[in-house]
This record gives sequence, C-alpha cells and structure tokens, in this order.
Amino acid sequence: MMSFEEINLEMLPQHIAIIMDGNGRWAKQHGKMRVRGHEAGAEAVRKNVEEASKIGIKHLTLYAFSTENWSRPKTEVNTLMGLLVKSLRRELAQMISNNIKLSAIGSLSKLPENVQQELLEVIKKTTHNTGMHLTLAISYGAREEIKQAVVQISQKVKNNIIPIESIDETIINEHLYTQNLPDVDLLIRTSGEVRISNFLLWQIAYAELYFTEELWPEFNEQSLHRAILSYQKRERRFGKTSEQLT
Ligand code: IPE
Ligand code: IPE
Ligand code: MG
Repeated sequence: MMSFEEINLEMLPQHIAIIMDGNGRWAKQHGKMRVRGHEAGAEAVRKNVEEASKIGIKHLTLYAFSTENWSRPKTEVNTLMGLLVKSLRRELAQMISNNIKLSAIGSLSKLPENVQQELLEVIKKTTHNTGMHLTLAISYGAREEIKQAVVQISQKVKNNIIPIESIDETIINEHLYTQNLPDVDLLIRTSGEVRISNFLLWQIAYAELYFTEELWPEFNEQSLHRAILSYQKRERRFGKTSEQLT
C-alpha cells in the first residue's frame, strides 16, 4: 500500500476533517443507481477510518449529511438514513477492536428515531475507548451550530451566569458541538468541488485545505496518505514570517 513516499509520523495532523463528496457521480460513471454510490461510499468510510486510526490520527471528523441534504428527494434521504444505521451496526465491532471512540455532531434531534438510537448505542459502547476519536457530522450545518452557540451564550448572559466581558474565543468554542475537539489541521474534500458547503466554519479558520478530483468511493488508503503528505509539505505560518518559525 505504501509504495510511495512515506509520511512522517512525527508530524501528523492532529485533526483531519473530510467532506466526503462524489458518491452520486461515482454511481453515474459506473451506470449504477445513486444508492450504490452511497454504499460504495460507506466502504470508503470503513477503509479510511481504519487507516487513519492505524496511522495514529487522533481526531477524524466526517461530513456524512448536511442540514441542506434534507432537501434531497425523500427516497434518497431515507436510503442514506438506512445506510447509516446499517453501517453503525456493522462497524461497531471494528470500532471496539480498534479502540475508536465515536461521537456525533449536528441537529441530531431531527434524525429519525432509529438512527438516533443506533447512534447513541454505538457512542455509549465506545465512550471509554482511548484510540482515535471519530466524529460523524450528521444533519450538520456550521451556521446552525454557531447560531445555537450564540443563543446559549446569550441566555447565560441574560441569566447572569456569565458577564458579557467574559465572552472570548474559548467561551465560543465551548458552546460549539465540537467543544471537545481541537481545531481542524487538514480539511479534505473529494470530487473536485472547491467549496466548504457549510462545514465547520469556525473550526477550519486555519486549516490546510486539500481538494482532490477523486470521488469519495475511490478515496482509499493511498489517497489518505497523499493528502497527509501534501499537508506535511506546507509551512503553517499562522501569520508569522517564515524566518520566525525556525
Ligand atoms: C456525498 O455524495 C454524500 C452526501 C452528500 C450524503 P453526493 O451524494 O453528494 O454525490 P454527488 O455530489 O451527487 O456526486
Ligand atoms: C456536502 O456535499 C455534504 C456532505 C458531504 C455530507 P454536498 O454534495 O451536499 O454539497 P454541495 O451541494 O455540492 O455543496
Ligand atoms: Mg455532492
């Protein structure tokens, strides 16, 4: 698998986030129904989760379903929800044996009851795992996430729980769905689209962005290595000069 340049295990991105796009186009290219594309996408999730955990990535966040995706045809939404339940059931054993801890972010209460239940079940059963932290963004929208943070903070100010002067980036962070996660270091989007589609707007403020033409079902272990290699060749200056970094 790793017949090319080796990634540096000392310089890994701590948090990788992926916009898994292109299932539909993959299906079309192969003369299949969209549902087959999503099934192939679920396979790619399995492979990449396993590989990321093997490499030693600490946090992996996957965009599985956006708040905007609710506008897709009802049959496709139902297919995706069904597939989610199936994948969670099927992957639980793998997550346990790989010591992976699962979380979910998004407007989870909008999900069908059985999806919520399955999610809670897997979250509960993996909660004490100490390996990679896998977060699924489902029914997720960054603007919705920021909005609910503003509402929560405003309520605390109104009820004199916190003074207005105490509002800083840390407080805002603490009210996002991702409160327990570090900022994203590497954001990957497949399928050639060069946009963010309402994903983790706050958390990617200084992420390195990696766009690839590969469709999500084609994105395999080698693809993940290529993305990490690209990340490792960049100089993250955070506003400083190159000279200041050495
Ligand atoms: C990504 O693949 C999966 C979800 C958004 C749920 P798409 O279904 O968006 O695939 P394309 O963009 O139509 O190819
Ligand atoms: C983004 O993909 C959402 C997910 C990958 C879950 P979309 O295919 O929904 O995004 P747009 O419509 O191209 O922006
Ligand atoms: Mg798409």
